[in-house]
This record gives sequence, C-alpha cells and structure tokens, in this order.
Amino acid sequence: MSLTSRTATFHPAGPLRGELTAPADKAVSHRAAIFAAMSEQPVHVTNYLDAADTNSTLEAVRRLGATVTPGAAPGEYVIAGVGLDGPRELDAPIDVGNSGTLLRFLPGWLGGQVGRRWTLDGDESIRRRPIDRIRVPLEQMGADLRARDGRLAPFDVVGRPLHGITYALPVASAQVKSCVLIAGMVAAGETAVVEPAPSRDHTERLLTRAGVALRRAGDTITVTRPARFGLDAVRVPGDPSSAAFHVAAALLVPGSRIVVRDMAANWGRVGFYSILRRMGAELGGELETPATASPDSEPVIDLEVVAGGLRGTTVEADEVPLAIDELPLVALLGCFAEGETVVRGARELRVKETDRIATVVEGLQAQGARIEATDDGFVVQGTGGLPGGGVMRSHGDHRLAMLGAVAGLASRDGVTVDGMDAAVVSYPGFEADLAGLTR
Ligand code: S3P
Repeated sequence: MSLTSRTATFHPAGPLRGELTAPADKAVSHRAAIFAAMSEQPVHVTNYLDAADTNSTLEAVRRLGATVTPGAAPGEYVIAGVGLDGPRELDAPIDVGNSGTLLRFLPGWLGGQVGRRWTLDGDESIRRRPIDRIRVPLEQMGADLRARDGRLAPFDVVGRPLHGITYALPVASAQVKSCVLIAGMVAAGETAVVEPAPSRDHTERLLTRAGVALRRAGDTITVTRPARFGLDAVRVPGDPSSAAFHVAAALLVPGSRIVVRDMAANWGRVGFYSILRRMGAELGGELETPATASPDSEPVIDLEVVAGGLRGTTVEADEVPLAIDELPLVALLGCFAEGETVVRGARELRVKETDRIATVVEGLQAQGARIEATDDGFVVQGTGGLPGGGVMRSHGDHRLAMLGAVAGLASRDGVTVDGMDAAVVSYPGFEADLAGLTR
C-alpha cells in the first residue's frame, strides 16, 4: 500500500477483558484462493480473510480466470478454478498490492504455462522486496523471469516447460518453499525442496488434503505433478500473528485476562507463544508440536492470557521462522521484561514489508526504549516499562502500526502512530477489536 498518514493516539489503558475471535489467517487465506484457482473442481472456502492483502489475491485469481462467488456468510466463497494449466494471459500487470506471499507464489504456477506471459507489480514496499530468491530456483527448473535489476518488481514471467530439481533453500522461507513446490506441480519429474530449518507448512497440509503425492523425509519435501488436482473445501483458521497483538497487550496491561478463540495452533506458527511461555507468560491452551501435527489439517485452540511479569529471553536462529512476524512484539515485550532480551539469526526481518530491524528499533527508541539493532536482530534492556509520549511511524507496514498501538496502551504517556491505516493489509478490524477488549 502507499504510505498513508492517518495518525491515531493510543493512551494507557485499563485492563483488557473479554473474548476475541482471532481474525482469519492471512497465510492460509492466500493459499486457499491460489490452490482453488489451480483446482479442477469448485472449492468451498469459509472464513476467508477480508483484508487488503488477501483481497489482492482474490482479485488476481479472478483476473487469471477463476470464478469467485461470495456465499451467505462473511468470508465464504465458492472459487471455481481453471486447473493447473488454465490461467489466462493478461495484458495489464497483476497488482499484488503489498503482498509478498502473492508475489512469491504466483510465479511458481505461471512460470510453467508454456507460451503465455504475465507482468507482476505491486506497491512501493513490494518494489523493494527481493524476488531473486524465487528467480534462482525457478530458472533452474527452466523458467524465464525477467526482473528489474534481476531481483525486483515489476517483473515478467514468461511461461516455459519446467522440470523438477532438488533445491536447497538458502534461507528458511515458507514463501520460497511454497513457490518451488507449486512449480513442482506443473513441472515434469520430481521436485525436492530441502529446508535449512522448518517453516510454516500450510502449503504441504493443503496439498496433502488435495491428494497430491507430497512426501516429507527429514528436511526434504518432494512433489510431483498430480494426475488431477482438486480440493473440496478449506476452512481458514484464526490468525495467531494477528491475535499476537492483543495477547501482548493483555500480558503487559496489569489486571488483564482475555480469551482468544479459534486461533490456529499449527506448530510452524506458534513459536511466539512458546517464547512467551519461556518469558514467564501465563497462557492456557495446548499448542501443536511436530509430534502431534496432522499432515493435512489445521488445529485451532482457545488461548487464555493473563497479565503478569516477564523475564528476558534469547531467541535463536532456529526459532526465528516459527515466530518471524511476531518478532517486533518480542522487542516490545523485552522492554517490560526483567533483564535482557536478544533476537539473533533474524536477518530475514530486513526484507519484510519494511526493514523491520531498523523500523522496530527506531520506533521503540522514540518511546524511550533501550533497544539496539544488530546485523541480524536486536538487543533490548528491560526497564520495566516504556515511557512513550513519542510518535511511531508505521512506514506503511501493518505490523509496525499495530505494534505502536500496543506500545501506547502499555506505555506511561501514550504513543501516536503515524500511518495507522496500514493495519488494513492484514487486520482491518484491529482497532475495533482492541477497543472491544479495553471497554
Ligand atoms: C508467509 C511466510 C513468511 C511470513 C509472511 C507470510 C507465508 O515469509 O513472514 O508474512 O504465508 O508463507 P517468509 O516465508 O518469506 O519468511
């Protein structure tokens, strides 16, 4: 999205009380729409996220030829896809808006459509985000991607016959992993992706649900083109990354007690909640573990959160992919915790919607936090609180905007967020939900 500047001031609040249904998950929503578009049978999607990012995906699949019919309930759609080989060629660019997931997923599918071409583009944040991470494996598979400076949007995808490869991911990224697996579904032969560390596996679960012969052995996932690709129904669970903002606020504002309903507990998504428990947070609800994971469905839980003192912790590289979008909140919580909080091995934060190491550190320093950036993370000295009183700029980054709101609620003097509108990217109802808990 473009940089906007609606400001909103968040004042210190009384305790958060009550229940919140977690908003629909962004990652599963993107996948539901894209896999439905690739499907040969209509897919009944429920609880699809109504937010700017996921609406970009619905619009993209519509333009590629899928029929998207809204149902009676909010977030309900029947999506009639075009099949693995059916996306329509387009004259005008596909606008991914602010969505890195859409930007990285579509080329996997479109890159294998022989004789057709597309241009992908997005907002100013998207134009700064690297696509060489997908260009490299896709070109090894035979694809033709023509990017600005070899690594940036706008870029052209020229469909070519693809063949399977074995690709060792240089960074643990669910987006890149998914892109290569999707390309593997339209490629000849077998495609294998080797993960340096586990990352969220929504793609693997949904493809398994659809009957795709997808195998995992240790750190390697293999896929081949299915004879027929068809999903039946996808119910999108609640988003643990969106709920994390309210959870953090409830932990920090004394006297709070909330329950978050219908939250996805997929072990690839709940690293933040394990970090919280290590920091001493009182959380009720059973998180999934690799040992209890289902291969083809998404578990949901009700999570109870009670405010309480926290202690500092160290987040190491292997935990980073499992908590990647929540690390800004770890920085904020570290300000309130006893002792030092360190995040390392998180260089990926530098290529998110903003350079989230720089923007989080700048934003929290402006509120009086003792936080320093490192090359691949940050170090926070807990001071038992946050003075606040400053302006926190979102830089158009939805998670920065919501971080500022939570910081304001828990601060002594309040925080003014410049660019609060950015929250519409993943969570348009954020301010209303927060107000509902602080009423
Ligand atoms: C996502 C994966 C993560 C995450 C992003 C959504 C996904 O990105 O930050 O918000 O839907 O797969 P990376 O896989 O690039 O780390």
